[in-house]
Amino acid sequence: MEILHVSAECYPVAKVGGLADVVGSLPKYQQKAGAIAKVVMPMHRTKFLYNNEWDVVHKGNFKAGSRNIEFTIIKEKKNILGFDLYCVDIFGLLDREKVYGYDDDAERFLLFQIAVLEWVNHWNHKPDVFHVHDHHTGLIPFMLKQCYVYKNISSIKSILTIHNAQYQGWMDWKTAGLMPAWDTWNWGLLDWNNIVNSLACAIKCADGVTTVSTGYLNELTVDANGLESLISSEISKCRGILNGIDLKVWNPVQDTFIMDNYSIKDVKSGKHLNKKKLCDDFNLDISKPLIIFIGRLVTDKGADLLPSAITGFLNIPNASVNFLILGSGDKKIETSIINMQNKWVGYYHSQIEYNEKLSHQMYAGADFLIMPSRVEPCGLNQMYAMRYGTIPIVRKTGGLNDTVKDFGEKDGYGITFINASNADIIHAINRALVLYENKSKLHELRSKIMKLDFSWENSVKEYFKLYEK
Ligand code: GLC
Repeated sequence: MEILHVSAECYPVAKVGGLADVVGSLPKYQQKAGAIAKVVMPMHRTKFLYNNEWDVVHKGNFKAGSRNIEFTIIKEKKNILGFDLYCVDIFGLLDREKVYGYDDDAERFLLFQIAVLEWVNHWNHKPDVFHVHDHHTGLIPFMLKQCYVYKNISSIKSILTIHNAQYQGWMDWKTAGLMPAWDTWNWGLLDWNNIVNSLACAIKCADGVTTVSTGYLNELTVDANGLESLISSEISKCRGILNGIDLKVWNPVQDTFIMDNYSIKDVKSGKHLNKKKLCDDFNLDISKPLIIFIGRLVTDKGADLLPSAITGFLNIPNASVNFLILGSGDKKIETSIINMQNKWVGYYHSQIEYNEKLSHQMYAGADFLIMPSRVEPCGLNQMYAMRYGTIPIVRKTGGLNDTVKDFGEKDGYGITFINASNADIIHAINRALVLYENKSKLHELRSKIMKLDFSWENSVKEYFKLYEK
């Protein structure tokens, strides 16, 4: 079985969010389980590109409207990710620093997808499955089956994984006109509400669709940013497969980013040393519980709710808690988070950036991680946190609901709340503060969460079953 993953992101090559973590680890575990898994992505100008060696494996060109587009496929030489990694370069279009956020993103990702199909069409062997991720690669299932030039590879199956249905790759018909010729009778496959919608098109055209948790799939039938009726009508080919985490990268026993390595046996002292380092670095009070937030500062993640909830706690004289926030995103949310910086020196700090190393140090040193997400297809951070003995405080939604059971329930281990509201967040944090004082319970829960199995093995089997089908 040979799987070609097509994605905009892949850790450690280029990462914006959890999509990169999944595409950087799932193929590795698929290889371990005996398949051949490869990844192809755009050649973003990232450190990884310059720090590694590459072979040019293919050069090609295609017509996009009146333009002739030349592209190059390069392959990382040493297989350092544990699978074959290919990048597509289209001069001036893909070789940029940021992954997303350019005015011509729709065109960039469309031409990337065409280049991938052109390359595979000229390859002397074919993968069995195209596994495409999110809307940036969502037109591949359509083009594969509908464009005349890809007739020879049209029997390759395609699977779409939805990591986030909020973004759908809307595109005007003019841009879509850059695709190679297809039977225009089938225009309805591209259309959703009078506009080309890449995600909707992928849901219609892929042989199978997965979401990154079962809970999220159920939610999508009710609310999918306008696609709920489509998901409901295609439900028979959809299934939820929970993400795993890369246990080699996320492991307090061998994590080279953290101050002190630890396991369940010495979690108390290990956490203490890592917490001390964090508190020293950011001028926080080690005697108080440390609650962290890590992630994109956007409303989907509930980051806009943090300032008022945190204010509620820190306005009290001698506040009994520290908060540390790491992330970047929406400028308005960033500003309100930075503005709190000068108010509560000594028990509040924010780092407005993406910082992989610091995130590891925070999971290791914190007592609690809060995720007040409005939408959370899977969520990896709660799983990373648990691996480091950091108790998750999460809103009961999507993958968070599937992976965190409230410690008030039988066999529970985390703290959950229902509404993305100030009242619910404050109540949940209060429960955390009470729990923090009960050291034996805290230790029991830490030991429990560190043992939970979030490995990829089970999910890899589920994907194989789907590909076989
Ligand atoms: C997206 C989702 C997140 C998920 C990740 C990986 O970033 O928002 O919930 O964990 O993709 O699938």
